[in-house]
Amino acid sequence: MNRNEQQIMDIDQNEINREDDMNFTITPWEVSGGLDDDNLYIKLIKKFGTQSIDDLLISRIQEITGEIHPLLKQRYFFSHRDLGWIFDKYQHGEKFYLYTGRGPSGMVHLGHILPWIFTKYLQEKFDVKLLFQITDDEKFLYNINLSRGQIKKFTYENILDIIAVGFKPELTKIIIDTIHIKHLYPIALDISRKITFSTAKAAFGFSNNTNIGMIGFPPIQASPCFLPSVLENKPTPVLIPAAIDQDPYWRITRDVAEKLGYYKPAQIHSKFLPSLTMNSKMSSSKPDDAVLTTDEPEVVVKKIKSSLTGGQPTVAIQRELGGNPNKCPVFWYLKYFFDSEKKSNERFYRCTSGNLLCGECKNNLADNSKDFIIEFKKNRERAKNVISDFILDGKSDEVESIQNA
Ligand code: TRP
Repeated sequence: MNRNEQQIMDIDQNEINREDDMNFTITPWEVSGGLDDDNLYIKLIKKFGTQSIDDLLISRIQEITGEIHPLLKQRYFFSHRDLGWIFDKYQHGEKFYLYTGRGPSGMVHLGHILPWIFTKYLQEKFDVKLLFQITDDEKFLYNINLSRGQIKKFTYENILDIIAVGFKPELTKIIIDTIHIKHLYPIALDISRKITFSTAKAAFGFSNNTNIGMIGFPPIQASPCFLPSVLENKPTPVLIPAAIDQDPYWRITRDVAEKLGYYKPAQIHSKFLPSLTMNSKMSSSKPDDAVLTTDEPEVVVKKIKSSLTGGQPTVAIQRELGGNPNKCPVFWYLKYFFDSEKKSNERFYRCTSGNLLCGECKNNLADNSKDFIIEFKKNRERAKNVISDFILDGKSDEVESIQNA
């Protein structure tokens, strides 16, 4: 048993199930509370019945790819289902597809692109195809204040971000639900016939007040799990990198997969990157908290300088007691985006021992983020010329309709 598993065993199941211990809400549409709970991710592994990523799996990835991505090493991707099975298949010559997605309810911020950076690494190392779904239908149904026009604009802007991450055009297809529905709908029908309302209620928390569009939506997000099998004309393994809040979708998909003659999709789950005020994962509906990929460099700096930290109320107390990096978004952003493992460990130690003040970390994060965003924006500009290379059957009228958003 590795350390992670031991830790999980050490937490009493009853303790996890106790109401007051689950002081967080995590659904595909809402993540709130809990991010400052040190055991949040261990609890989620238990709650969702997934596996932690252990050292053995990590060494297998290293064996196959020759490299461990820092986001794996740092356990930003911390949980999975069937990852070992995906590698078995791969090593026996069965290539998998990657599948991930984005709900276009706002502009993209740094927290969103972290899983995409990791997905790009998987695409490169395994040399595999990627389907990238844009759930414009889901966001229209869920956010009743957003108009179709607004969602269309976010779709266009978000596609620029996706392309700017650097996926390979010859291996990547972006699927926009309202445009490409004909590819998904037959599969979604097969899936929906097998899912009852009571299963959907239990998985997603739907109630009598949920609009019926939302209730009918999950098969649309499940369909790209099986689309590779249709495109390749044989059962094809799929690996989904996604934040763990998307897990209910994959649970219902796995339930029906074998009944429909497909493989169950495998998953690799990431943690959440919180907003700078720590309320929830960075939400694009609260733009003031989040560093957007389209922010001007001065705005990036300003947002970071006014961020919450894990610091003490005064310098004197900080020197005496040290800060709390585990509850500090500035520390996390540095750790996952910019610091080497060594640097991050040093920062942790200097902070907890009272030798590091928050101003220094904020300056480090502001400098790094500013440079990152300046580069990223250049990629976004270049993306404007290559959109059609990335869109599933990128016919010109479809591409035009996206560009005219
Ligand atoms: N529902 C996701 C969101 O709101 C978007 C999405 C669609 C997705 N398919 C996915 C995310 C596959 C991860 C993996 O952002």
